[in-house]
Amino acid sequence: METIISGLKSGTIPQHVAIIMDGNGRWALKQGLERSAGHVRGVDTVRQITEIASQLGVRYLTLYAFSTENWNRPQKEVDILMDLIVTAIERETPDLIRNNVRLALIGDTSRMPDFAVDRLKRCISDTSASTGLTLCLAISYSSRWELTDTVRRIAAEVSQGTLSINDITPDIIDRHLATSFMPDPDLLIRTGGDMRVSNFLLWQIAYSEIYVTDTYWPDFSQLDFCNAVALFQKRERRFGLTGEQVRNQ
Ligand code: IPE
Ligand code: IPE
Ligand code: MG
Repeated sequence: METIISGLKSGTIPQHVAIIMDGNGRWALKQGLERSAGHVRGVDTVRQITEIASQLGVRYLTLYAFSTENWNRPQKEVDILMDLIVTAIERETPDLIRNNVRLALIGDTSRMPDFAVDRLKRCISDTSASTGLTLCLAISYSSRWELTDTVRRIAAEVSQGTLSINDITPDIIDRHLATSFMPDPDLLIRTGGDMRVSNFLLWQIAYSEIYVTDTYWPDFSQLDFCNAVALFQKRERRFGLTGEQVRNQ
């Protein structure tokens, strides 16, 4: 693993990796277990992937943990997931601090139970002095919620007269998004094999490199993550230019 890490570090490391952690339920059903067993195993993967991302020098890791649409799952699964997310973060906070990882949260906290918001906020403030990897959890998040909220806040500034319509630019929109403290993802990973984005960071992934693997999230290993980064390093990011223009830059 050390050789793989140092090999990758001699190339470009994505500054921001975003992951759609999918396949917990199918992983569990395949082993004849309840879906919740997959979510429990998924937490182990989060720990492993946070560790390898940090070792590689990734600056931001955004994990899609719970979508706006996931509120519509059976109440029992919703309750288990909320409890699991909060308990796992609290348990991991001392290790996050030790590893210089800063925690951040994006999502509609108004829909989350108060106990969960209070406890998550405490973990965020406990890790706020960390200067290494930022681990950003997307909980009760969807891109359409975020964009709607952003449009509302921009419209409020316009109606109060503090912003003029002509000053609304992509940069102003960026600065009003929940993700305003991060650059756009360089690499988007989806586990579980589905070729869709499920309402995740729609604005921000405009030029992200996409990597989809059939591997279910509980089976996704540090080596799999390194493999995704290796493939990222082989891509030519053209941002609308010709290949020749990019190579002459
Ligand atoms: C991803 O696993 C975790 C969440 C969406 C919270 P799923 O629970 O969606 O697992 P599958 O896709 O049904 O296998
Ligand atoms: C996406 O997974 C959301 C998260 C990983 C939290 P879903 O399982 O909810 O996505 P769909 O329903 O397959 O699109
Ligand atoms: Mg799923």
